[in-house]
Amino acid sequence: MKDRSKWGTNAGFLLAAIGSAIGLGNIWRFPYVAYENGGGAFLIPYFVALFTAGIPILMLEFALGHHREASAPKAFRHIDAKWEWLGWWAVTFVMFGISLYYIVIMGWCANYMVFSLNCAWGEDPNTFFFDEFLGMSGNKDVWQIGGISWPIATAVAVIWLINWIIAYGGIEKGIERAVKIMMPVLFLITAVIIVWALFLPGAQKGIKHYVTPDFNKITDLKVWIAAYGQIFFSLSLGFGIMIAYSSYLSREANIFKNSLIVGFSNSMYEVFAGFGVFAILGYMATRQSQEIKEVVSSGIGLAFVAYPKAISLLPSGSYFGFLFFLLLIIAGISSSISIIEAFTSAILDKFALARKKVITVICLLGFFGSLVFTTHVGLLWLDIVDHFLNQYGLITVGIVEALIVGWIYRTDKLKAHIVSNLGLSGTRHKIFDYVILQLWMYCIRFITPVALGIAIIHSLIGEFAEPYSDYPVSGVIILGVGWLLVTHIFAFGLSGLPWRGGPPR
Ligand code: TRP
Repeated sequence: MKDRSKWGTNAGFLLAAIGSAIGLGNIWRFPYVAYENGGGAFLIPYFVALFTAGIPILMLEFALGHHREASAPKAFRHIDAKWEWLGWWAVTFVMFGISLYYIVIMGWCANYMVFSLNCAWGEDPNTFFFDEFLGMSGNKDVWQIGGISWPIATAVAVIWLINWIIAYGGIEKGIERAVKIMMPVLFLITAVIIVWALFLPGAQKGIKHYVTPDFNKITDLKVWIAAYGQIFFSLSLGFGIMIAYSSYLSREANIFKNSLIVGFSNSMYEVFAGFGVFAILGYMATRQSQEIKEVVSSGIGLAFVAYPKAISLLPSGSYFGFLFFLLLIIAGISSSISIIEAFTSAILDKFALARKKVITVICLLGFFGSLVFTTHVGLLWLDIVDHFLNQYGLITVGIVEALIVGWIYRTDKLKAHIVSNLGLSGTRHKIFDYVILQLWMYCIRFITPVALGIAIIHSLIGEFAEPYSDYPVSGVIILGVGWLLVTHIFAFGLSGLPWRGGPPR
């Protein structure tokens, strides 16, 4: 077999992993999730989730990929051949599910980057976004598909092309080189935006809202579930990505340190991004003499309705808007590229095909898949598919991987692998082995599966109480449940095919 590709440096790997973690989820999802779930008080469940599930699962994925030098299917197969499907499922529903619409959202950002130049949304960004830009009819009928929106499809084509160019170059000459340019630019733009925002009149008012703790919320189960969900999505856990990325590390790499660096960088980034976002909202509220409550909006509305409004009000708002949407695109590309790589590395591990051909085929399929979300009902479809893949797909992968690694594989082997590269001896070695990594094992065996199990049961109960977000039941079942099932069948199919050159040990 040919030598497996490698990162040029550990720093290159870190930038790529942090790039995968930092994405749209950090910039516009985290701030409103935090706000809705108790503001400053949300940080308590959030950091508990980071320490009991985020960093432990990240370390598990890094250790597994690095130890076995394998992508997700091959790594899980090593635990037991019957778990190979889990790896395929993760990379499949992320690649042919989450990333399809994730890139469409970047396509919207690309359009809005241009719109920012002359505030094309005019007086009423809300009507502009939903009616004119997306061409939605205003009802929730997911079957009134309408046509493809060409401005969006064009932008989506460009974004897939950029992804293809980067992935085509390979690990060191493609991804590593790209993140070495993109990540510093990302941090710089973020800094410019935050500083800009903090000096606007009314900024403190917004920030006060963001950080003011509402401790009553802490007893609410939903808040805890939101915290675990945010950590999972934001750290790209259960995507099969971190397994593939760490498989390209040098044999000496320090898995423990790398997990802490990636885990903390991602969280620090999102907590800081929240300051920027709320400073702007404070400015808007002040300018319009409104309450923060009235200007804050969640989800899609935050980036594509609230922000455009703020951009119109701001002096030199065009520059600000341009930078903001550019920031979202850069953050998004460093994430989408990571799943292309994770899927490709799974295919290469099993079928030993030519890398460049695989990348080209995957990007073409991805582009056509994305088109599904560029119609007039794209937003509705995206919303349903996103709900099901996040709440059930990612969480199931997380539970099963924690259980099989914790109970079947017995974390000892991974533990020994992590300790061996720490270069410790004597007491420090003992502390690591018997205290820190022991705690890690408890998280993997007990806390993570229980926390995620509660989350999934809670979501399931909600599903039967009423169809998700009042969509027609047929839409929820065909798009949501269907997407989970079809990707599952596909994954089983892939895991049933023979390994080129015989199955790995
Ligand atoms: N962690 C990313 C975020 O916070 C999400 C993400 C990572 C992602 N890799 C991805 C989404 C690949 C789609 C495809 O936004």
